[in-house]
Amino acid sequence: MRMYDLIMKKRNGGILSGDEINEIIKGFVEGSIPDYQMSALLMAIYFQGMDQNETLDLTLALAASGDMTDLSGIEGIKADKHSTGGVGDKTTLIVAPIVAACGLKIAKMSGRGLGHTGGTVDKLESIPGLRTEFTSAEFAGIVNKTGLCIAGQSKNLAPGDKKLYALRDVTATVDSIPLIAASIMSKKLASGSDCIVLDVKTGSGAFMKSLKDSLELAKEMVAIGTNAGRKVAALITDMDIPLGFKIGNSLEVIEAVDVLNKKGPDDLYTVCEALSVRLLELAGKGSYKECTCMVKETLDTGAALEKLIEMVKAQGGDASYIKDTSKFKKAPYMYEVKSAKSGYIAFMDTEKIGTASTMLGAGRKTRESLIDYSAGIVLKKKYADKVAEGETVAVLYASDDKLFKEAEEKFISSIIIESQKPEKRPLIAASIS
Ligand code: URA
Repeated sequence: MRMYDLIMKKRNGGILSGDEINEIIKGFVEGSIPDYQMSALLMAIYFQGMDQNETLDLTLALAASGDMTDLSGIEGIKADKHSTGGVGDKTTLIVAPIVAACGLKIAKMSGRGLGHTGGTVDKLESIPGLRTEFTSAEFAGIVNKTGLCIAGQSKNLAPGDKKLYALRDVTATVDSIPLIAASIMSKKLASGSDCIVLDVKTGSGAFMKSLKDSLELAKEMVAIGTNAGRKVAALITDMDIPLGFKIGNSLEVIEAVDVLNKKGPDDLYTVCEALSVRLLELAGKGSYKECTCMVKETLDTGAALEKLIEMVKAQGGDASYIKDTSKFKKAPYMYEVKSAKSGYIAFMDTEKIGTASTMLGAGRKTRESLIDYSAGIVLKKKYADKVAEGETVAVLYASDDKLFKEAEEKFISSIIIESQKPEKRPLIAASIS
């Protein structure tokens, strides 16, 4: 096999075989295929696409480039959820304890914040003492004991994807549906769960801005997972508006606990309920109606909150912060963003709102930056809400008041106020299985 010939084959619209894809990924990971040739291939894939077999072969090759997590030491049905990333998306902190309280085992590896989106591991680390790095034996031990553990991604999880993603990031080849699908699913397959529910976000704060692209990505990922022998389903959920009202690490943990205490915002609960029910259905726990009742019961009885407390304790965290979220350190400075005019919020550029939160310290400017766990944004008004001139639309929190000016400008530029009340958007746009 000559890499030159394979690049030309793909450039001319040919189909790469499984053996060819395996050789390419092996050579790229080992370093015998240089970045310039891999970049050319990525660009050819970007323009020519990949068919379903090629995408599956790429996924399997990327998954096999590192450790395939063996969850056989964990009893029961192992379940996972994945979000394609959003703003205010703290669903894992709610769905994982709910389904664990229903008897599923969640052995989950989560990511850190990426760009304008937050990451579950960063959010969890805002709980004092909580660890997210474990040996495999510790990880399995926590899941067997409590039903759930949320860890950071192990260093050798799909290293081929890590290397490929870094190259895509600098060669304008990230936003290719087969490449995104293979990247996400390689990590899910390598993580070892039997049942996976995918939360594919759509809208201004999502990777996929249009419903058409979100549907295509969801279908591609479900097909990969199913063809790889796992039970996979996807929900397309709205990310044209931030989820819930709180954006930022400890702020989001607080809001997740509010939902588990049945005091959270409706939009956040609705999405979490839908994801939990879908995961329970996939795992064969019952009909839609039965699974919906089970989910509600975990909140009514406090079982889901208790699961989160057990997990936090098992991961070394101070669970008193979950029992009393007022213990979380508050940011020393706050700033109220006021509306310049009266009307209805007709559009929120959710990516910009995520960027404003990052500017306040809730996300990283560089890979090495430290996160300010108390920084972020609390929305006072959301899409379709009525606002009066001078009324507070959001409160910004930071540890340095010099950060407010730029973040306020970004926030203000993210919202459009009009005189007409806009139509409500569906929270769950589609379900794919
Ligand atoms: N998230 C991933 O893990 N990979 C992509 O390609 C895009 C989003």
